[in-house]
Amino acid sequence: MAVILGIESSCDETSASICINGKVINNEIASQAIHEQYGGVVPELASREHQRNIVPVVDHVLTHASINAKDLDGIAYTRGPGLLGALLIGSSFAKSMAASLDIPLIPVHHMKAHVLAHFIDDPKPDYPFLCLTVSGGHTQILRVNGATDMVILGQTQDDAVGEAFDKAAKLLGLPYPGGPMIDQLARDGDPGAFQFAESEMPYLDYSFSGIKTSILYFLRKEVQQDKDFIHKNIHNLAASIQHTLISMLMTKLIKASEQEGIHQMAIAGGVSANSGLRQRLEQEANKRGWNVFIPDFQYCTDNAGMIAISGHLLYEHGAFGSITDSPLPRMPF
Ligand code: KG4
Ligand code: ZN
Repeated sequence: MAVILGIESSCDETSASICINGKVINNEIASQAIHEQYGGVVPELASREHQRNIVPVVDHVLTHASINAKDLDGIAYTRGPGLLGALLIGSSFAKSMAASLDIPLIPVHHMKAHVLAHFIDDPKPDYPFLCLTVSGGHTQILRVNGATDMVILGQTQDDAVGEAFDKAAKLLGLPYPGGPMIDQLARDGDPGAFQFAESEMPYLDYSFSGIKTSILYFLRKEVQQDKDFIHKNIHNLAASIQHTLISMLMTKLIKASEQEGIHQMAIAGGVSANSGLRQRLEQEANKRGWNVFIPDFQYCTDNAGMIAISGHLLYEHGAFGSITDSPLPRMPF
C-alpha cells in the first residue's frame, strides 16, 4: 500500500502523476511550446518554464486524485539523465516537499522509467524481456531481468534515433520536433522511393549520424536540379527516411532476440510513438512468435506516469535517496 507522487522535469515537459498501490491515477503534462521557434530545446528557457509550471501541475494531480499531500508515502523524481537546470527544478521541488512531509525520496533514472512504463497498464511483460528504448537522447537494447536489474546489450555510439528523425526533418524544412511530422507524412508515401545507406555497426550497437549526412548530400544534389524537389517528394522522402531508420532498429533487435533467446519484446521512449515502427514490430511478431508490448501513447513520450510507477516499484525495494543527492545530467545506467 503506497501513494506515490511522481515528478518528471528532465527536458521540456513538466509532468506530475499520482500512483496508488501500483495504479497510475493521472498523468498531467505541461509541454513547452516556446522551443519551437528555436528549432530545439533551449535549456535556460526550459528551466524557467519548469519553475512556472511545477506548482500548478503538482497541485492539479493531487486535487484530481483527491489526495492530500499528507496522504503521500513517497515522492519519486527524475534524477537524470537530462538538462541540469531542468532536473534541478524537479529535484529541488521533490526534496523540499518530501522533507516537509517527512516521507522518502525516490530518485529515478529517466531511461529506466521509460522501460518501467510497461507496468502501468495491462498486459504487462514477464521478466526477462527485451526493451528497445528509443528517444531523442538514447537508443538502447536492454535485457530487463527485473525492475532494478537491466543490462544494456547494445546502444548508439553517436546520435540517438529520435535525433536522427529530428535532424532529417530539419533537412526537409519541417518544424521541431520533426519525428512526429515525418511519421505523419510517411503515411502517404512510398518507403521504397529513395534508398539511404544503413550504417553497419558491430554487435548490437547502432550509429545514426551517417544517415543524416547521406540525406543531406542526396537532397543537395536533387535540389540543384529541381528547387521544388523536397516539396514535390515530401511524402516519399519522409516514408523512405522512416523506413531506413526502422530497418536499422529492427535488424539489431532481431539479432538481440536470437542471441538472448527471448521473445518478449517491448519498446519504450518517444520514438515508440512512431506508427511505422509499431507496424513493423507487429509484422515481426507474427513472423517470429514474439509477444510485443507497446505502452499507451501518453506513456511513450516524456511523462510522470512512468516516474510514479517506477517510484512504486522502487518503494517496494526500499530504494530510497537522500536530500543530498544532486541531479545527474549524465546519470550512469
Ligand atoms: O522520450 P522523448 O519524449 O524525450 C526524450 O527523452 O528524448 O523522445 C522525444 C523524441 C524526439 O526526437 C521526437 O522527434 C521523437 O521522440 N518522436 C517521434 C515520434 N514521436 C516522438 N519520432 C518518430 N515518430 C513519432 N511519432
Ligand atoms: Zn524520455
